[in-house]
Amino acid sequence: MTLQEKIEELRRRNAEAERGGGADRQARQKSAGKLSARERLDLLFDEGTFEEVDKLVEHRCQDFGLASQRIPGDGVISGYGRINGRLAYAFAQDFTVFGGSLSEANAAKICKVMDWALKVGAPIIGLNDSGGARIQEGVASLAGYADIFLRNTLASGVIPQISAILGPCAGGAVYSPAITDFTIMVDKSSYMFVTGPDVIKTVMHENVTKEALGGPLTHNTLSGVAHFLASDDQDCLALIRELLSFMPQNNHEDPPYLETRDPFDRQDESLDTLVPAESDKPYDIKQIIHRVVDDGYFLEVQEHFAKNLVVGFARLGGQSVGIVANQPEALAGCLDINGSVKGARFVRFCDAFNIPIVTFVDVPGFLPGTEQEFGGIIRHGAKLLFAFAESTVPKVTVITRKAYGGAYCVMSSKHLRTDVNYAYPTAEIAVMGAEGAVNIVYRRELQKAEDPETQRKAKVEEFRERFANPYIAAERGYIDAVIMPRETRPRLIAALRMLETKRELFPPKKHGNIPL
Ligand code: HXC
Repeated sequence: MTLQEKIEELRRRNAEAERGGGADRQARQKSAGKLSARERLDLLFDEGTFEEVDKLVEHRCQDFGLASQRIPGDGVISGYGRINGRLAYAFAQDFTVFGGSLSEANAAKICKVMDWALKVGAPIIGLNDSGGARIQEGVASLAGYADIFLRNTLASGVIPQISAILGPCAGGAVYSPAITDFTIMVDKSSYMFVTGPDVIKTVMHENVTKEALGGPLTHNTLSGVAHFLASDDQDCLALIRELLSFMPQNNHEDPPYLETRDPFDRQDESLDTLVPAESDKPYDIKQIIHRVVDDGYFLEVQEHFAKNLVVGFARLGGQSVGIVANQPEALAGCLDINGSVKGARFVRFCDAFNIPIVTFVDVPGFLPGTEQEFGGIIRHGAKLLFAFAESTVPKVTVITRKAYGGAYCVMSSKHLRTDVNYAYPTAEIAVMGAEGAVNIVYRRELQKAEDPETQRKAKVEEFRERFANPYIAAERGYIDAVIMPRETRPRLIAALRMLETKRELFPPKKHGNIPL
């Protein structure tokens, strides 16, 4: 072969890989409103920075006529590049090549970039669009999945892992995204389920559509499997870039600092009247969050799931923080099973990646009822408690109003190694609400009273005077300062800066046993 012929061969092979499953299938992908795998990677990475690897890898399957159908790249594009100037690794399944199905060879490609990401200490992003295990390859494909799951598990807590679902993701394939830190689903084109509608119909005699079973709305609102709902592929890829901006590259680094023009000492008078004086009146906790954080910007995580607990990322004085907040507008801010699990996972993510946690508390307690008790609120509520207690990142809490009962303890109280605990003058820290407390403590007395209703009201008032305030806790040092709401931003920033070099250790152990 002449040199020119060798160059031509390389060009031919590369071009073949870039054609993927061919023009017809690419056109079908487009008409389904989806970008191609290559277009997705172009949008994910900073322009011109993506370096593809294993472009010429082919499958080795000799069965079912596959020996003659070999497409370089084998249905997945993998490599590395820069996102906002920082190194990241990614793989994108190409649905036009054997339905993006996972073969032994393309699983090895995915594992290679996962191994690099773990070794080097940079995030890995999976762009999923696949019909699952390559049917013709049998157990070799299943082995490929297990190899990926193992790496997802080993990388958990070491490097950030993000999954985008941009098409099908079915069967055991769902367990890779499930282990990763954040899953983004794209409206209309994505779905995830362990067993599909056909199997469900056969086994359970239930009729359900693909969308209702595992569409983006289902997983963002009902199951909590997804963390974000993107409107289309472009939106999804932009979101990944943004999400990464709040995170460090790995667990040994701190998250990046982002310069802000928002003054650190900015006070906001409107906060003084935002929390209603009446204990039962709802308000939107997100209004407090927006008024306090840098430039009012808050990236909410799992916005549509367990709305009674708000979690997400923001910055305070340029520093990335994770925010956890009870939402009095939903279930009166009670903690329930879904809220506890959502909060626990988020707290553990922040803790693993050195992101300080700021908690806003307005919680009347755990949601009562048989549904919650039978569902295991004891076990699930304990997850949030465990997560706050074991976390060693800087932790700052603000009690805006109610902090009742066990929920007071759970919501990043001083007793769970929270560093700085503030309360507003409107804070009520008590074992339970005044009405409930009086009914229990004074039951016999009230039964005997001549005018029980007047007496009850007087007792409720007395109870409220005594307990519905932050001062008993402040006198014991459980609250470090009772602050004016307008000062929230400067006080939080001062506390976070003071805690910048915090180090806290565990008793030696292999790992804890979080109540799963
Ligand atoms: C091999 C596959 C494939 C697969 C799709 N294709 N899935 N090839 N293995 N798993 C191929 C098709 O033959 C077709 O090839 C092309 O991809 C596009 O598929 P279509 O069916 O034409 O596309 P569409 O109508 O959009 O339907 C998409 C789909 C469907 C819903 C994903 O293809 C499907 O149901 N596939 C099988 C899904 C499945 O059961 N997978 C196994 C799940 S179990 P041509 O040449 O015509 O373009 C699993 C176990 C994992 O994954 C275990 C981990 C532990």
